[in-house]
Amino acid sequence: MRLNPQPTPDTNAWRIHHDADAGVWIDHFDGRWLVQTRSGRFPDGVEALADGIATSIYWRPRDLDAATEPTHRWGEVITEPFQVEENGARFEIDFSAGYSPGIFLDQRENRLLVREKSRSGTKVLNAFAYTGAFSVMAALGGAETSTLDLSKTYLDWTWRNFALNRLNREDHHGCKGDAFEWLATFARQGREFDGVILDPPTFSRHKKKTFKTDRDYASLAELAAKLTKPGGWMLCCANTHKLYPGEYQRQVEEGIRAAGRNVLNLKKKPMPTEFNGDDYLKSLWVDVG
Ligand SMILES: C[S@@+](CC[C@H](N)C(=O)[O-])C[C@H]1O[C@@H](n2cnc3c(N)ncnc32)[C@H](O)[C@@H]1O
Repeated sequence: MRLNPQPTPDTNAWRIHHDADAGVWIDHFDGRWLVQTRSGRFPDGVEALADGIATSIYWRPRDLDAATEPTHRWGEVITEPFQVEENGARFEIDFSAGYSPGIFLDQRENRLLVREKSRSGTKVLNAFAYTGAFSVMAALGGAETSTLDLSKTYLDWTWRNFALNRLNREDHHGCKGDAFEWLATFARQGREFDGVILDPPTFSRHKKKTFKTDRDYASLAELAAKLTKPGGWMLCCANTHKLYPGEYQRQVEEGIRAAGRNVLNLKKKPMPTEFNGDDYLKSLWVDVG
């Protein structure tokens, strides 16, 4: 089993092992390992590999219900949330939270770019924010952030992440509710942002309305483009194998044009190299005119 090296000296959370053929994925969270497997059998050799590198191993077969907590396999039992560091920013991790432990490691390089693009005097909107990791990076870059998610639990987690990074939440905004409703409300209010981040789930249902990434991305991009200042940027992500990259790009561009705006520049950002060419996460950075 091959281990991927630490990506940067001030990053202690990354995908340390990736083997799609064998169906084994291991994420390293400052010495705690979260092992995911395609099958219901724990893979041989993981404990031996962890010795001297990890302090504990938790395991979650991927076929379990998303809310199922990973189970303890080896080493220290984790009883409380803990912190990890990514490019100097700090994030709270909770293995008992279900769904995901607090951060999507595959977004590390996009997060760094968000920080680099965010400056004092700019405004960044993070829709479908989860625990606000993109907002933290934008705020560390100096931007005034708006963090939007359906879940109060995740907005509360966002503010804890702000506190871990000594960011004052009073300088930032949180919106609880449906992204589509909020984006339309912001447009009616004439609000504009220098940067808009869209990272929706593959499927979402709210008040009997459904959103499917592969079907509805153009309308989401249209709403977001209306809020983006001329010369501003959008980060559009889609987390699904179902949508081919060309079709995804077509939908994003169609949405931006439907908003009466144009694409000044568009760049595809591949996933971090430790994800070994897996391309389920598609990221487009678009400058909007
Ligand atoms: C894929 S996660 C986003 C990950 C996040 N961008 C990150 O990088 O950490 C999807 C998030 O969208 C939220 N969500 C789902 N449907 C939503 C909706 N209709 N409006 C707003 N947020 C929604 C979920 O609560 C969840 O936190």
